[in-house]
Amino acid sequence: MDNIRKIKRISKSKPTMEGAGVLLKRVFGYNEVPLLDPFLLLDDFHSDNPDDYIAGFPWHPHRGIETITYMLHGEVKHGDSLGNGGLIRSGDYQWMTAGSGIIHEEMPQQKNRLLWGVQLWANLPASHKMMDPRYRDVKKEQIPEISLNGSKVKVKIIAGEINGTKGPVQDVVTNPEYLDVIVEANSEFTHTVTRGHTVFAYVIEGKGHFDPNNDQLISAENLVIFDDGDSVRITTKDGSVRFLLISGKPIGEPVAWYGPIVMNTEEELRIAFEEYRNGTFIKYKP
Ligand code: CO
Repeated sequence: MDNIRKIKRISKSKPTMEGAGVLLKRVFGYNEVPLLDPFLLLDDFHSDNPDDYIAGFPWHPHRGIETITYMLHGEVKHGDSLGNGGLIRSGDYQWMTAGSGIIHEEMPQQKNRLLWGVQLWANLPASHKMMDPRYRDVKKEQIPEISLNGSKVKVKIIAGEINGTKGPVQDVVTNPEYLDVIVEANSEFTHTVTRGHTVFAYVIEGKGHFDPNNDQLISAENLVIFDDGDSVRITTKDGSVRFLLISGKPIGEPVAWYGPIVMNTEEELRIAFEEYRNGTFIKYKP
């Protein structure tokens, strides 16, 4: 029996200040733990006012998590302690496994116009928190896009697999699925998900229905968290909708989180910050 997931909760992203003074919208974060396990945080930076973004995210550490940055518009320069450096451009994404520790910067490369991107944090299980860090830069051209339902649905596969087409990043610890979906007007998208996995959608443009038993039209900057089930169904009427559909297997471990570092215990957090202060934070350098 195909059990279509119902909406568990809808919430709107909230303005937050981060980095060196970047005004962004927090979709979910610290206060929602463990509701979205294995995911910890989703930030939406979306502004055409340089005052909101120009300060960027200067050098800072991460440990115990993976960060996935997907650029929808504009350019961000990235540099890190592994020696990677480069531009993430519109349509590209970056999958960074901080593991035992990485120090990096993320700086906007424009002084005007629209800058728009989303950053997701995925937790790592205790067994992988201290793994060697790694970094994957994925260009727009490498992201497969498939058409469904007579081309009324377009799906970019950032991670995961649909009808045999796989996203470019596959060896991710929590094996998440990350799709960028556009459903044209008067259409629908039904997608099989794994029972027991956490599934959420973040609407980025337009409006749609995210539950066949719920009339509510859900618009941009809203987060939809689904109850358990075997599939999700998104339908549209007059207009199209674009959303990110993300799912992953819950880790189910204690979360000790301070700023950019997420471990299992307070003691591990204390050690991480002490190491950062005394210069022994980086365990792996190529
Ligand atoms: Co960062």
